Amino acid sequence: MAGDPRHSRVTLLLLLCGMLAGCGESHPRATQSNATDGSRNVPQELTRARETRSCKSLAQDQACAYYDRIESWLRAGTLRSRYVAGAVALVEGGCVTCHTYRNIGTQNLAAPDLTHEGAIRNATEIGRIIVCPQCVKSNSSMPPFKALPRRSIDELAAFLASSGR
Ligand code: HEC
Repeated sequence: MAGDPRHSRVTLLLLLCGMLAGCGESHPRATQSNATDGSRNVPQELTRARETRSCKSLAQDQACAYYDRIESWLRAGTLRSRYVAGAVALVEGGCVTCHTYRNIGTQNLAAPDLTHEGAIRNATEIGRIIVCPQCVKSNSSMPPFKALPRRSIDELAAFLASSGR
């Protein structure tokens, strides 16, 4: 009966339940899907970076083109997924305005190519260079990146240290 107060209470509960969108249903995780077709399995760092850069509407954007190349390294198996964050940080942090790395970046101020950086430096040394290049080499013309979040510095250092060994 519509007028029964017990019925309307149940209806209200069901309504609330729908609004809160849950009620015991398990939430599928948006990223990290195990899709086997490959197209959905884009690491969340790349997805987030593309969204930040509005890559969908900026077809000619240089950074977006770099993200595509980073994804292709991943697909080719030449970049391990745990280093994707560092590769993205190389673009987001502006490192690629002076440095080259594989087929991304441009060279300015005679900055060295970083493709094989891991062959000559470990993550600790690389982290120190990022924060204070002049502390490592007094006449270095690289600007210090003191404002970069610690997490990005660690991701960059781990990624570069893993490169070219
Ligand atoms: C304005 C240009 C510029 C930017 C931007 C820049 N660098 Fe550099 N970087 C240099 C130059 C120049 C050197 C070489 C310094 C020297 O040895 O005299 C260098 C050196 C380095 C080295 C040491 C390379 C070696 O083999 O000796 C590392 C590692 C490095 N940069 C990482 C980074 C990272 C990571 C970023 C981004 C957070 C970055 N750089 C941004 C110019 C730049």
